[in-house]
Amino acid sequence: MKVSIIGIGPVGLVTGAAFAEHGNNVVVADIDKERVNALNSGKPPFYEPGLDNLVKGLVSRGLLRGLFKPSNDSENLPLYYKSIRDTDITFICVGTPPNPDGSMNLEYIKKASIDIGTALKDKKEYHLVVSKSTIVPGTTEDVILKLIEEHSSKKREIDFGACSNPEFLLQGSAIAGALNPDRIVIGELDKKSGDVLMELYSDFDEKIPRLKVGIKTAEMIKYASNSLLATKISFANEMANICERFGVDVYEVMEGVGLDYRINPGFLRAGVGFGGSCFPKDVKAIASASRSKGLKVPLLDSVLLINEEQPLRAVELAESAAGDLKDKDVCILGLSFKPDTDDVRETRALPILMKLLEKGCKVTGYDPEPKAVNNFRKLFHQDFSIVNFARSIEEAIKDKDIVIIQNEWEDFKKLEPRIFKTLMKKNPVLIDGRRIYDPEIFLKEGIIYRSIGWKRNF
Ligand code: UDX
Repeated sequence: MKVSIIGIGPVGLVTGAAFAEHGNNVVVADIDKERVNALNSGKPPFYEPGLDNLVKGLVSRGLLRGLFKPSNDSENLPLYYKSIRDTDITFICVGTPPNPDGSMNLEYIKKASIDIGTALKDKKEYHLVVSKSTIVPGTTEDVILKLIEEHSSKKREIDFGACSNPEFLLQGSAIAGALNPDRIVIGELDKKSGDVLMELYSDFDEKIPRLKVGIKTAEMIKYASNSLLATKISFANEMANICERFGVDVYEVMEGVGLDYRINPGFLRAGVGFGGSCFPKDVKAIASASRSKGLKVPLLDSVLLINEEQPLRAVELAESAAGDLKDKDVCILGLSFKPDTDDVRETRALPILMKLLEKGCKVTGYDPEPKAVNNFRKLFHQDFSIVNFARSIEEAIKDKDIVIIQNEWEDFKKLEPRIFKTLMKKNPVLIDGRRIYDPEIFLKEGIIYRSIGWKRNF
């Protein structure tokens, strides 16, 4: 099939690459010329393990290409619309960033819908529009389809169909997730729409469960999934804080809890909280949308509150182990929101850094992925000269009083206690914010070890 995708972000590009890998002809459009050029030269514009090779191969085989949307170029704009019109299915994969009050910003969704409407104006054949962006229930029908109808003078169900097809990709293992998802959720406007999308997925492993539901239900499944996963994490974090007080290790507790088939062990790892482009934004968005309907959402509010306080736990542990933090040399290992990505959105490194600066520490940050460091710099609006960025792990931890592990890159997991002992100052304090080390081994080496939810923090 011929597929067009609007948005060269992680979702759009990885989804596009997966469909192209299944033999479809895919064009991925964006308003950002640099992203389009990078894609057309076979290089993904962001870091995702394995994506380089996949994209390079698909671009050279002519199955995947980038398409630039000029802002106001009378000659090239019609070519852009034609490229979309010439495909059978268009996926909307643009961002829905949060407004300051937590609600969704629909600016990009609206622009993409208007583009699709304009492109479909001169199309005689049926076209399917699929929303993959995370949007609150009702947005596909009330916003996207309405705008497409207005700008194309076509009618939904008659001239074009629509589906919601939420994605559940995890950054860092997005390719495996796109090629072999654990379920395919198809929210259909009508039977024909769902059947066309099902056809696109017909090459995917037949063992993958396919669920056909209404559009609003599919939109809600995404929010409910992410809210439950975020709830599991905040639950594990609250349990961690409780366990510490009772001299119990939360990791051992969660192992026992996760063995219950009704619960399962996933997303029960306590730590400095969840970040990323989905959990914080999605929980805030569905909470805000529910509130606007006059509903109270105390559970989701608590999930967010626990997550705001959790990174500060790492600083409290540092203080309890090292005393007054003023003028202490502290290093944060890991700036991206999780390993194997350069994405720093909602990274817990930021609240940790701000708290350390407030306490008067001298802070060094390090991430194995240089793009994560650059992205982090952009996040931090204050004068960055007050934070030092190291170029290697050794440089990062050398002469530090305290090291805080913020995420779990393999490079950090491999570090021997001896390295901390040799490079750090006297009485080195290690705050393991993601429980990547065996506490006993570090204690034996003479390191003052603390970890979220560990039984001997007190
Ligand atoms: C998430 C969802 O998993 C995915 O389905 C959705 O499509 C997008 O959002 P992602 O943000 O890529 O994916 O990362 P994920 O691995 O889910 O982790 C999110 C955050 O939760 C990270 O900050 C991670 O460190 C944290 N986390 C995860 C925990 O603190 N504990 C856990 O047990 C699991």
